Amino acid sequence: MYEANPHMYGDDASAPARHAAERFAADGTNAVLELGSGHGRDALHFARRGFLVHATDFSATALDQLRTRARQEGTADRISTLVHDVRTPLPLPDGSADAAFAHMLLCMALFTEQIHDVVTEIRRVLRPGGRLVYTARHTGDSHYGTGIDHGDDIHEHGGFAVHYFDRALVDSLARGWNLAEVHAFEEGGLPRKLWRVEQVKP
Ligand SMILES: C[S@@+](CC[C@H](N)C(=O)[O-])C[C@H]1O[C@@H](n2cnc3c(N)ncnc32)[C@H](O)[C@@H]1O
Repeated sequence: MYEANPHMYGDDASAPARHAAERFAADGTNAVLELGSGHGRDALHFARRGFLVHATDFSATALDQLRTRARQEGTADRISTLVHDVRTPLPLPDGSADAAFAHMLLCMALFTEQIHDVVTEIRRVLRPGGRLVYTARHTGDSHYGTGIDHGDDIHEHGGFAVHYFDRALVDSLARGWNLAEVHAFEEGGLPRKLWRVEQVKP
């Protein structure tokens, strides 16, 4: 997809990334781990705001696009990238990130158990007091229940499989964290209906 549609999510930072940057700054954050960064519209925003960003995605093509843009705009010294599939453990030390961000990653083609495993890994690599901001499409989205049903609230529409979150899933992912906020918002022309969730590692 990224080869056929370079910079497919646009060059402007997403609304949740803008919000997260404010929160991360207020927390005194230095290093941000972004999972599922794609071509980096949000990683670039975090770097412009002065954070050190470790951006991961399983698309090497998307991360190439991110590095090229970072070099062009002079933020490459604040961004590192890693090709990584979140269905495997994060190759990062415990407590090595001050904050984590994942926009529309956890609602990709992941089963509930895999989503729990990813959040457990994020918790491990965050320092105590570290904040996770993630977003996920939810069961109020107009595509929920349409297309190919893969079970476990995963539906495939137009070649994309999405795991639509219900509130029980959000709450279960926040167990052992301090759940700070669940905020409903929309993105894009569909529009996609999402929740922005903030939770803090005790
Ligand atoms: C909906 S896109 C959002 C991209 C980016 N966060 C943004 O908002 O511009 C989801 C991203 O998750 C990545 N992704 C999907 N499944 C993944 C997995 N199992 N491991 C790592 N990345 C994955 C995709 O390559 C894609 O870049």
